[in-house]
Amino acid sequence: MELNLATLQDYLRRQRAEIGVFEPDTEFHIEEIGDGNLNTVYRVSDITRPEHSLVLKHAPPYIKILGPDYPLSVERLTYESRALDVYNRLVRGTVPVQYSFDADVAVIAMEDLRDARVLRDDLIAGTVDIAIPEQIGRFMAVVHSQTYLDNLDSGTAQRCKQQFANTTMQSITTDYVFTFPYTDHETNFWTPGLEPDVQQLKTDTDFLERAAHLKQVFLTAQQGVTHGDLHTGSVLVQGDTAKVIDAEFAFYGPIGFDLGLFWANYLLSYFSHQDALRVQSALKTAIVQTWHAYTAEFKMIDADLRMETLQNVFYDAVGFAGLEMLRRLVGAAHVKDIEGIVDMSRKLRVERAALQFGTTLVKNPQSFQDVTAIIERL
Ligand SMILES: Nc1ncnc2c1ncn2[C@@H]1O[C@H](COP(=O)(O)OP(=O)(O)OP(=O)(O)O)[C@@H](O)[C@H]1O
Ligand SMILES: [Mg+2]
Repeated sequence: MELNLATLQDYLRRQRAEIGVFEPDTEFHIEEIGDGNLNTVYRVSDITRPEHSLVLKHAPPYIKILGPDYPLSVERLTYESRALDVYNRLVRGTVPVQYSFDADVAVIAMEDLRDARVLRDDLIAGTVDIAIPEQIGRFMAVVHSQTYLDNLDSGTAQRCKQQFANTTMQSITTDYVFTFPYTDHETNFWTPGLEPDVQQLKTDTDFLERAAHLKQVFLTAQQGVTHGDLHTGSVLVQGDTAKVIDAEFAFYGPIGFDLGLFWANYLLSYFSHQDALRVQSALKTAIVQTWHAYTAEFKMIDADLRMETLQNVFYDAVGFAGLEMLRRLVGAAHVKDIEGIVDMSRKLRVERAALQFGTTLVKNPQSFQDVTAIIERL
């Protein structure tokens, strides 16, 4: 069944008890609020008491913006629901509360994070709150350490791997982050003047080998529950609290992938704010603090942790950050932090600098001993 504004009223009346938020006979006000590509997201409120509201996320059996000719399994929402369960259990308050999940129709009913802003929009506006990356650093550390393979008994580990065997979404990431951007794929695009840099990248055998290695790590490393899409559009800021959303890519994988994506999007923001020194300086601090919060929390939870483990997570994260930066410059999905720059020569300067930095991260992760080394190289 596919939900839309016409069928939702009926659906809500049938599911009201299961969802459990609204009184019987509630009249619903429904508006579509989603700005994403894959799914539809609605805000549902009680007409007479608008403060009673929730958010419904629905996965149609195809990619929403492309239409029914582009099928995509609705199972993606099952993984998002499972991830929300894990997050709510381990780090309550850092994700929306999940009220119900309907696997048949592919609908999650969750807490309405009212008045929340998308973190990416804050960064574009130059608003950089250091508390946010600290919270995300702790969030990642709790989830990663508590689901870390070495910390689980074999039965739990097996269950965890099965529950998060999200191969369909993992293969989308494989294509769009690790493969297509470095081939002549039809979905790639870039600013015209960037052509020489792109061609150089595609023929740089050192780079291509490193990218292939990182793809192997992405496909085979089974370390812990990884959000899989933790960019700055997947974080909502409500007051001074960060809330993580959109976990449909969650899988049991290399935990450094989450750090890498998060850092890459702060780095892209850094380059987009060329000449705004105060903002750039705050973004650098944000990147450093993410790692400090992450490692401090990880060590606190996992007393037997070997330093070597975190160092390897760091190197993976550096490489993944580089590839995420690059695919946002030359692949199918760009970021509005940079796409929004109207002065084309400025945009090109920003993109060229970001592309060079991303390439260095991919090619020489081991030349960065720690997070401050990343910042010093900017
Ligand atoms: N619990 C929530 N409370 C308030 N707003 C929300 C909530 N969940 C999602 N939204 C809004 O809906 C938007 C889209 O949500 P989400 O990213 O989960 O959808 P998506 O279709 O999976 O997106 P994408 O195509 O980027 O993967 C968010 O950016 C946010 O503005
Ligand atoms: Mg999504």
